Amino acid sequence: MDQASSVREEEPAVAEGPAGAAPAVARTREELAAARSRATGTLALVPTMGALHEGHLTLIRRARESADTVVVSIFVNPLQFGPHEDFDRYPRTFADDLAACAAAGADLVFAPAREVMYPAEPQVTIRSGPMGEVVEGAARPGHFDGMLTVVMKLLQLVRPDVAFFGEKDAQQLAMIRRMVADLDVPVRVEGVPTVREPDGLALSSRNRYLSAAERRTALALSEALRAGADAAEAGAEAVLRAARAVLDRVADADPPLELDYLVLVDPATFTEFGPARTGPGVLAVAGRVGATHLIDNMPLRVGSPKES
Ligand code: PAF
Repeated sequence: MDQASSVREEEPAVAEGPAGAAPAVARTREELAAARSRATGTLALVPTMGALHEGHLTLIRRARESADTVVVSIFVNPLQFGPHEDFDRYPRTFADDLAACAAAGADLVFAPAREVMYPAEPQVTIRSGPMGEVVEGAARPGHFDGMLTVVMKLLQLVRPDVAFFGEKDAQQLAMIRRMVADLDVPVRVEGVPTVREPDGLALSSRNRYLSAAERRTALALSEALRAGADAAEAGAEAVLRAARAVLDRVADADPPLELDYLVLVDPATFTEFGPARTGPGVLAVAGRVGATHLIDNMPLRVGSPKES
């Protein structure tokens, strides 16, 4: 077994030195348990599917600031991909991910194979309930069940004090918060704001699929959200109208944006906001450009001027 694929017994999982030292890597439950038992103080988990970008690194840095030991999990979870989704082509960039984890200050990378995570075909899984069937869940049946199941397993295996998730996946984050509350999981869940390119495109592991022309079309997602947020003071209907006007402009672009949804929802439940309501909401959008499914969202305060 090479050094990068095993926990280095001689080194503690807690990095005392500056960020940059290669993190230990646990491939098996035993290696993870050994590293876990050596960790002292507070422990943070950053669950990922790899193909790490600046958004993930922001999560890892936040975790580094808040805990003594930082564990990053890298596992492309088959349970959360539908039969016609991109599980097989999902980018797997382990060597680069490991270097990125080192630079961001992770102590341990848990990178299990499928058989380690799912030694048997799971029979008992997490049901995401009604919240998992709306918005992104309506477009991707079963996705949130699979996502919650793997997150629950990771929380059980790593036993972190705190776990960090990106607000880019706002519905995912809301559902994880709800699972932790409903099932009394002893972990604190921290959301971290979306990291964007200078032109506004939200960072995503799937951005690397986009050609230059597709990327130009994809920019409409964040532009629509900004337009919606700019209209927030005028109410829910104005928000949706402003965002839709931007999306309409790329419906016939080359390549076009095939819109899956544009919704204004309650941030905690993802139920529809309602035209007369004011207060905090989330404007969420998803669409397909070429073969790539992209999502984005923006928190806003309906009925109040946009915060700069
Ligand atoms: O956001 C992701 O990358 C995944 O959904 C997660 C939380 C790591 C579970 O597989």
